[in-house]
Amino acid sequence: MHVVSVVSQKGGSGKTTVAVGLAVEAVRAGKIAAVVDLDPQATAANWGDRRGEDVPPTVVSCQASRLEKVLAVAKSQDLDLILIDTPGKSADAAIAAIKAANHVLIPVEPHISNLETLSNVSELLALAGKPRATVIISKAPPLGRRHEDARAAITALGFSVAPTVLYQRAAYSDATNLGSTASEYEPRGKASIELSLLYSYIASIL
Ligand SMILES: Nc1ncnc2c1ncn2[C@@H]1O[C@H](COP(=O)(O)OP(=O)(O)OP(=O)(O)O)[C@@H](O)[C@H]1O
Ligand SMILES: [Mg+2]
Repeated sequence: MHVVSVVSQKGGSGKTTVAVGLAVEAVRAGKIAAVVDLDPQATAANWGDRRGEDVPPTVVSCQASRLEKVLAVAKSQDLDLILIDTPGKSADAAIAAIKAANHVLIPVEPHISNLETLSNVSELLALAGKPRATVIISKAPPLGRRHEDARAAITALGFSVAPTVLYQRAAYSDATNLGSTASEYEPRGKASIELSLLYSYIASIL
């Protein structure tokens, strides 16, 4: 079972969108996947409620202090992949999620206000024993080259960056209203292609 934690120290950078988006891609690829929501705002859990209890992936809400127990139950149930979604700014939850993970995903918007939080994430990764981590450039304006400038800056900080960029597209947020992801909401759309490529890449490095 792979445990992938989605962490950043910036609110609204796309953590929940990445966590549920990749979980649904895994399900579409025939895997058994679940989302563990550590965010007291319960954005992923509420998304799961809108989706419907019987529609995979299962979404479980829990406090960081209960994470080990919840993962132990998941391990006994033969899951292929767990995505852990974390709150916008909680070092405690982020550290618990990073410690539990085989791989950490860090969504960042290509903007200085997001990029400058990466040094903080580096410290959390170091505190939690430095698991492998990949930055995902998220909510990038489709026009211009901010994503390429951001990629260079993030690489210079020593992070790996996923080749797939998630651009700013209405399908990502419209889909969440329905408890769906962009791949389900607009299967032929660009956001759907981005999620599929991102999943393939992440699956290849786990
Ligand atoms: N690529 C994208 N394009 C357009 N909108 C997006 C994209 N990714 C996320 N959003 C929207 O941006 C908002 C914040 O995204 P999301 O909830 O995934 O971020 P978050 O990091 O989980 O936030 P929080 O820190 O509050 O938990 C949501 O309304 C979401 O639908
Ligand atoms: Mg969130």
